[in-house]
Amino acid sequence: MDNNEGFCGVSSPQGRVLPAVCLAGKNDRYILSNGVEIPCLGYGTYMVPNNKVGEDALRGAIEMGFRHIDTATSYHNEDMVGRVMAESGLPRSDFFITSKLNNPDQGYESTLEAFERSLAWLGTDYLDLYLIHWPRVAGTEEVWEERVAETWRAFEELYRAGRIRAIGVSNFLVHHLEGLARHASIAPMVNQIEHNPTYQQRETVSYCEEHGIQLEAWAPLGRGHLFDNPDVVALAERKGKDVGQICVRYALQKGFVTMPKSNRPERIRSNSEVFDFALDKDDMALLDSLNTDDCYTFHPDRLDEWAERVSRAHAESGVA
Ligand SMILES: NC(=O)c1ccc[n+]([C@@H]2O[C@H](COP(=O)([O-])OP(=O)(O)OC[C@H]3O[C@@H](n4cnc5c(N)ncnc54)[C@H](OP(=O)(O)O)[C@@H]3O)[C@@H](O)[C@H]2O)c1
Repeated sequence: MDNNEGFCGVSSPQGRVLPAVCLAGKNDRYILSNGVEIPCLGYGTYMVPNNKVGEDALRGAIEMGFRHIDTATSYHNEDMVGRVMAESGLPRSDFFITSKLNNPDQGYESTLEAFERSLAWLGTDYLDLYLIHWPRVAGTEEVWEERVAETWRAFEELYRAGRIRAIGVSNFLVHHLEGLARHASIAPMVNQIEHNPTYQQRETVSYCEEHGIQLEAWAPLGRGHLFDNPDVVALAERKGKDVGQICVRYALQKGFVTMPKSNRPERIRSNSEVFDFALDKDDMALLDSLNTDDCYTFHPDRLDEWAERVSRAHAESGVA
């Protein structure tokens, strides 16, 4: 690994030194609180269509060496992920598969059933990581904590039975994590949150770092909007890299797992070519300075905006 000083043992904002792993390639691993190893870079499949376009994109990613695949029941492509994995001829144990429980399936029994459906679609008998996708579900906001507690009881049971190697949450803010902590006997190993230079969720990040919860950054490219950000564009030009590479590298240097999404092979490849350069302190400070509080895609506590944003995102992407 060239020119990569400062990347091993990244310091968190609280000064805590994060696990001293040197990441030199997409399948280098972070170690979760239960000892399970997770490849630092995944292939994100939100809006990767369940058809030939999606299959070709995922097949290409696997050929490029991706082994960590991030899917979810709500992406409607778990069966496509299962097909392409099986077709690859690689052993199941080569892959790290994350899926996420769909919101309407929250609850004890419904989680157990939804988990079995996900396994069947994926053509596997275990998950590497299973996440509660969102803390609050539209229509049941007042009882979100009870629903999460019941869901987590099922997660713990599946984990103890060896059906899932690691369990976690997604889009949990500090008050959701505290709500979960009131009921959990096993702490979440992961929190997957929206994170990129313009939306850094610092309070949630600090909480997770203090509690040993591995962070994962979704929308590391800001869903594409960072490609027009003049500060990021100028930094990319100075470094001789492109904006996607700067953003992915930023997430990794923060100590996050990340999973940029693209349907296009050339972008999938370039977004993963981030191990031959480093962002120095000034570069990181510049990216840190772009933080805003409201540049989010979906806010976990603003369900009223949800439907509108989801339908706009789907319309823009062309994925139904
Ligand atoms: N836990 C959650 O609630 C949650 C929510 C959303 C996403 N996620 C996960 O995180 C992954 C990534 O997040 P995301 O898909 O929302 O956003 P993202 O990775 O930040 O951005 C994806 C968008 O950027 C475009 N893009 C990718 N590479 C590019 C490049 N080099 N140049 C220009 N444009 C580029 C893609 O278009 P093309 O495909 O046309 O290249 C796509 O429109 C998802 O796929 C999913 O696995 C999780």
